[in-house]
Amino acid sequence: MNETTKIMEANRTSFPRDCSFTPNDWHILSAFWYPIAIAADIVDKPVGVKLLDVKLVCYRSQGNVVVARDLCFHRGAPLSMGWVENDEIVCPYHGFRYNCEGACTSVPAHPSNKISPKLKLIMYPAVERYGLIWTSLAGSVEQIPAFLGWDDSDYVNILPPSFDIAGSAGRQMEGFLDVSHFAYVHTETFGDRNNTEVPHYKVRREGTELFADYWSTVSNYGKGQENPAPEGFMWLRAFRVFAPFAASLIVHFPDDGKLMILNCASPVSVRYTRLFCPISRNFDKTAPVEDTIKFNLQVFQEDRAMVEAQTPEDLPLDLAAEAHIPADRTSIAYRQLLTELGLGRNYTS
Ligand code: FES
Ligand SMILES: [Fe+2]
Repeated sequence: MNETTKIMEANRTSFPRDCSFTPNDWHILSAFWYPIAIAADIVDKPVGVKLLDVKLVCYRSQGNVVVARDLCFHRGAPLSMGWVENDEIVCPYHGFRYNCEGACTSVPAHPSNKISPKLKLIMYPAVERYGLIWTSLAGSVEQIPAFLGWDDSDYVNILPPSFDIAGSAGRQMEGFLDVSHFAYVHTETFGDRNNTEVPHYKVRREGTELFADYWSTVSNYGKGQENPAPEGFMWLRAFRVFAPFAASLIVHFPDDGKLMILNCASPVSVRYTRLFCPISRNFDKTAPVEDTIKFNLQVFQEDRAMVEAQTPEDLPLDLAAEAHIPADRTSIAYRQLLTELGLGRNYTS
């Protein structure tokens, strides 16, 4: 590793200014992959996003997605205010240009001078998957979560817009795994105030993943929607958790119908989350996707009201900090998983 590479590497993984995470938690969380944008929204116009308190710029050059620190080293201008020209990003302040490897190719004030190789953007890996752009600040070997339906030709894919929550990713994730709130929070969508009991279920651990198969009579059809499920139909909701902030859910409908949802809570900062939620299903393939998006949005909004109102705002990892009931098995296992990652007791405090 030469000196310049060392400096770039140190900058790439250095603790951001005004970071809302503790240094320990930030370093642990930065090893993972998170979605930062809807792939179709990333064209040749630079877009500014934030992940774990790091400001990033994202754009497309020669068809490839580029993710870099949203920072020009000349005078600190955000490149997301610039533009892309001939596959290079142009800084809006003094016109420095950077190629898709991040190297500076032009300093317009001194067109004949040699450009220092140190003038390079801090770059991050970019992967396009499930209609989303994913990155990892530490560029580590941790995996992007699996989502089985998306590449299966028997499924149709639906990608709702991202959804912002003024709450922590951990609280949002735990809400996604919570099965006893349906009858209270989701009464306008699919829950039933008269069906509150949570039957026994088990949580299984495989490597760093959690699995929970939850059987109940809570229907997944929306209010007012035709419900062709036979009387007493048992609904299976199969959860799979990928630490730290993603989980998939497969809802088993009648006639082998499967609805798959990948809940990805991207931690913008300690108490701000951008939710990405690709959906796949092997039934109702010609039904308008707008209806699904609308239904999902309403469910998200119901959840958001609660996640934004919970105290403490952070997910307490100390199991003695909140009361638990048997229905909370998955969320208890989830808190233990986050503790094993090495996150702090109140990982976001
Ligand atoms: S700050 Fe970017 S070119 Fe000067
Ligand atoms: Fe919910």
